[in-house]
Amino acid sequence: MLIVRTPGECRRAVAELPAPVGFVPTMGALHAGHLSVIGRAREENAAVAVSIFVNPLQFAPHEDYERYPRVFDRDCTLLREHGVHLLYAPGVETMYPEGFSTTVDVGHLGEELEGARRPGHFRGVATVVAKLLGAVRPHRLYLGQKDAQQTAVLRRLVHDLDIGTEVVIARTARERDGLALSSRNVYLTPEQRAAAPALHSALEAAAHAIAGGERDPRVALEAARRKLIAPFREDYVAIVDPAAFTVLEELRRPALVLGAAYLGVTRLIDNLAVPGDDGVDPIVTPPLTAVRRGLRMP
Ligand code: PAF
Repeated sequence: MLIVRTPGECRRAVAELPAPVGFVPTMGALHAGHLSVIGRAREENAAVAVSIFVNPLQFAPHEDYERYPRVFDRDCTLLREHGVHLLYAPGVETMYPEGFSTTVDVGHLGEELEGARRPGHFRGVATVVAKLLGAVRPHRLYLGQKDAQQTAVLRRLVHDLDIGTEVVIARTARERDGLALSSRNVYLTPEQRAAAPALHSALEAAAHAIAGGERDPRVALEAARRKLIAPFREDYVAIVDPAAFTVLEELRRPALVLGAAYLGVTRLIDNLAVPGDDGVDPIVTPPLTAVRRGLRMP
């Protein structure tokens, strides 16, 4: 695996890779969730590039930028073991040198839900991903479903800025008890870890109500809240239109149930999609067929 540190080096290295190239952006501290997204990118592309960059622009001053886990050597070992061809790992000075002033604002999509709780977060995410895509120029961008609003924001970015990359959303990887894999799970105490699957159960309760034909969002949300009990402290649970990310006043399918809640100081997020009558998952991209895998993308 080649490790590159600047956009120029990265572009030159990607030009030498066989096409198509799948790209998985990360902030490191890799876990089985990242590895399953990387595994999918491996299956569907001739080469895989990964980035590791803990992006200061997407953290608010009170958030965990400083204490975000940084385990670069361990991450490199995992990436090598998983057949990654190229790692782009720029420093903060490379990404945001003195005088840097352009940011990418995705508008209302970045202002609701996570965006309302974390003002500026999606501007930070969109800006860094635009820069990473400029350096890697992949045929396909792979993102995990767990950060559902992030996937919607980045789809919008790729579309609106004519980036010409196919966006592929990979299903959330979970522990056996339902907890979504996340770099932040390492912060949980044993007691908090034992309580953590309740977030997934809460979303399942709401999803079950919607799938059963419930039309009133208050009823479905109440079913979720009954499961989201102490030590969890709810931040929000919401049911949105999966494409527009607008909160549904009257339930319909497809829908997306989202939740964010605290265990101590650790904030966990998760989501569950409820398909429409066609049974198609509104978030996760179906596996690419053999023919599509081989296509050279624009
Ligand atoms: O999901 C993440 O890890 C980050 O938000 C991303 C997409 C790598 C941008 O920093």
